[in-house]
Order: sequence, then structure tokens, then C-alpha cells
Amino acid sequence: MDKLKTNVLYYGDNLKILREHIPDNSIDLIYLDPPFNSKKDYNILFKENGGVESEAQIKAFTDTWHWTQSAQNTYHDIVTTGPLKVGQLIGALHDAIGQNDVMAYLVMMTARLIELHRVLKPTGSLYLHCDPTMSHYIKLILDQIFGASNFQNEIIWFYKTGGASAKRFARKHDTIFFYTKSGRYRFNPQKEKSYMMHEYGFKKSNFQKDELGQYSWVYTKDVWEIPAVGSATKERLGYPTQKPFDLLERITKASSKEGDVVLDPFCGCGTTIVAAQKLNRRWIGIDITHLAITLMKNRIQDSFGNIPIEVIGEPEDLAGARALAHQDRYQFQYWALGLIKARPLGEKKKGADKGIDGVIQFIDDASGKAKRAVVQVKSGHVSVNAVRELKAVAVHDALGIFITLEPPTQPMLTEAVSTGIYHSPGWDKDYPKIQILTIEELLQGKTVDMPPLTQTGITFAKAPKVSTEEGEQLSM
Ligand SMILES: C[S@@+](CC[C@H](N)C(=O)[O-])C[C@H]1O[C@@H](n2cnc3c(N)ncnc32)[C@H](O)[C@@H]1O
Repeated sequence: MDKLKTNVLYYGDNLKILREHIPDNSIDLIYLDPPFNSKKDYNILFKENGGVESEAQIKAFTDTWHWTQSAQNTYHDIVTTGPLKVGQLIGALHDAIGQNDVMAYLVMMTARLIELHRVLKPTGSLYLHCDPTMSHYIKLILDQIFGASNFQNEIIWFYKTGGASAKRFARKHDTIFFYTKSGRYRFNPQKEKSYMMHEYGFKKSNFQKDELGQYSWVYTKDVWEIPAVGSATKERLGYPTQKPFDLLERITKASSKEGDVVLDPFCGCGTTIVAAQKLNRRWIGIDITHLAITLMKNRIQDSFGNIPIEVIGEPEDLAGARALAHQDRYQFQYWALGLIKARPLGEKKKGADKGIDGVIQFIDDASGKAKRAVVQVKSGHVSVNAVRELKAVAVHDALGIFITLEPPTQPMLTEAVSTGIYHSPGWDKDYPKIQILTIEELLQGKTVDMPPLTQTGITFAKAPKVSTEEGEQLSM
């Protein structure tokens, strides 16, 4: 196995990456927020399914948790070669629950948690984020892998957003399990302002006043009220399931110190990474979609400027690009859009946008109106008709960008040139209205010929700038 690399993003399945790249006892803090479609009706999760996986993967990430051949194989591995107590538990759960989405989820999680336990330092901590749909099963598994005596907290993250129900009490919390690898773990007690003390009738004299004359900085309890990332929140990037920065900042401060290594194996749009970077920790992020990887690269750059980071697992040459396209054309699309800093439209496509895969938004005149370069990505055979289609969808936009894995034909190039130019009023400059770029050219550094980007990111919002902490402060 290689030496541990930090400040690195890995594209791929975390199980494989953990096994191949992350050495034993090398990580100080792990936070994981695995996907599970818990908004589904609880009963539906228990319905047995035949293992047919949907091909449709245009969404940001799919719930991989169905009882497929892969779940069956992983189950077999855990029961036959996993730690004995873990195998026994999983075997018993399998008998009790059956072969359904719940069991598939538990099996997939168990395989990953065994690896996460292996890579954690003896002084390290793991925080697993889930919700009441699965938390009771997950805790059984964590107890077997980490040892019940290493359970430290069940943290309730309470938020106010989301709907209410007339049939039950409104569901307003997630669960975060905090386990350590041993009794010798780092914990930096956190404090918070306690405004609730008055409400509950505690005596004021029991609490110290701070310099503002307010009292009660008390040790943080295991119920955290932190606003979720709502539609009007400044930090919102548009990635489903984005977790609030304050939540990750608190975890990072509590269970690591400067220079430590923080790992998020399901890192989505990278909230853990941003918290780690801000607090001067080293970090490793893993995600199975190029959408997330691209978004994280942009988020890190928007938040901290051009800091050195490495991305592992992205295609580096034409053969790699072909392999990715062959494996999964949506992932190819996300990756290709990332090459020109276009934001994927994903499922948001409506009306005229149906024919496009991504957009680059720019402002090039005094009115401040955002204009678009719309982008189509093709991984298969291409013909002049495809360029005509792009012309049609780009008719109300400034530019149309055609990215192709296969080389364009002469009629395609002629068709593109015949479309004419876009004149940028702000820069008083002409740009070809329809531009064809091959993946090979992009890999060689060719870029879209367009007005400079003064503001990037509209499909996913631009992340606000984050300043790196100098010394640690109390969380609020
Ligand atoms: C719930 S989201 C995490 C959100 C994240 N905490 C944030 O604040 O943005 C789960 C992420 O796990 C990724 N994922 C799912 N299965 C994975 C796997 N096997 N390996 C790596 N990443 C995976 C998904 O692509 C998704 O981005």
C-alpha cells in the first residue's frame, strides 16, 4: 500500500479506495454521512426486491442499497471472513430481516465500517451520521466492530426545517453516533452559550458571566440545535444532502487537533473538507460521483483560493476517458463538464434546457445580467445533426459548447462555423457562437473561447470565502 496522501480527493467506491490507499492506524477523525433514502416509507424498505438495478443515474447519487449480487457477495464475505462477532450479528440480522433494501444497506455499511475501524488510529474517533430509520441497526453493528465500551455519544442533531405531519410528531432530528477506537482518544471539550438555562429555571448564579455580561458557556450537550442548510442559507450549494458547516466544525474541533488527518469517505459536496481545511487539519475526501468531486474542487477553490490539492481517480488521458464513458456515461458527462468548469444540470432540466447537459454562466456587460454558455457532452458517435440540435437549444443563449469524445466530422465543423459569432458588449470582442471541443483537446489544455469568468457557478452556487483559523475558539 502507498504512503498516506493527504489533502486529496479520491473518485471511486470508498470500499476499494480504503482497501487500496489508506493504511492501518493512519486517520485521526472520520465523519461519514452515507446516503440512504430514508424519506421512503419505512415499510417499503423491507419489501424484498429482485435485485434489478435502475440504470437511471442522472441524479446526484443513487442509493446503492438494493439486494443485488454485490450485496449477496459482501454478505458472504462478512459472514465467512469478517470478524467473528460481526459475522454472527450480520448472519442473525439477515435471518431476521430477510434480503431487502435494509439488509443490503447494513451489509454494505458493515463492510465499510470494518475498513474504517482498521484505518483509524488508536486515539481516533468516528462519527456516523444517520437517522432514526436505520440508527438502531447501525448501533448494533458499531458496538460489534468498535466495542460497546468505545461508544461515546448518540448525538441528536435537531433542526427546524422540513415538513410536519398530522399523523405523528414532526420528525426533526438526525442521529450521529460517536465511537472511539480505544479509551485513549482525543477529546477537546466544546462549550456553547446556554440560553435555555433561563427557560428551564436554572439559577443564574450557577453560571459564569462572560465579558459581555451574558452568562453560561456550558459544556456542549449531546443535543445540538443547528439550522439545516435551507434554501435561503448562504452556504447552500445546491447539492442534495449538504450538511451545515457548523455541525462539521464542532465535530472537527472536538475530536482532532491542528495537523491531524480527517477522512470523509462519503464526502458529497465536501463540508467536512472545508471544516478541516479551515481548522488547519489535513484531509481526505472520497466520493463515487464526478458531480461531487467537481463541486468539491470548485468549493475548495472558491473558499480558500488556489491551495494545493490532488484529485485521484479522474481520467488523465484519452484511454481513461474512454474507459469512464464505457463504464458510466453520466459520470463521464460530469467529469467532462468539470474540465471546462461547467455546472451539470442533472435533474433540473426543464423546457428548453432539456437538450443541454451543463452551463457556464458569465456576466459581460454593465447591466450585470447573467448570460449562458450551454454545453452538450457526447461520448458516442457524433454527426452534423447533433450540432444542429445544439444550435437550436442555444438559440437564446450566448454560446453553445459541444464536447465530444469522438473527433468531429468535417460537416460538423462547417455547421459550427456557419452559425456565426457572439459579440460581447463588455469586452467588445467576438467569440464563435458554437464551439466544438474534443476531450483530447481539453486534456491538452484547450479551453472554451469565451468572455472571462468574473463570477462562476450558478447551477451550484459559489461557496463563500472561508478564512483559515488562527488558534481555536469556542464554538457558538
Ligand atoms: C449524504 S451524501 C453526503 C453529503 C455530505 N455530508 C455533504 O455535506 O455534502 C452521500 C455521498 O456519498 C456518496 N457515495 C455513495 N456511495 C458511495 C461509495 N460507495 N463510495 C464513495 N462515495 C459514495 C454519494 O455520491 C454522496 O455524494
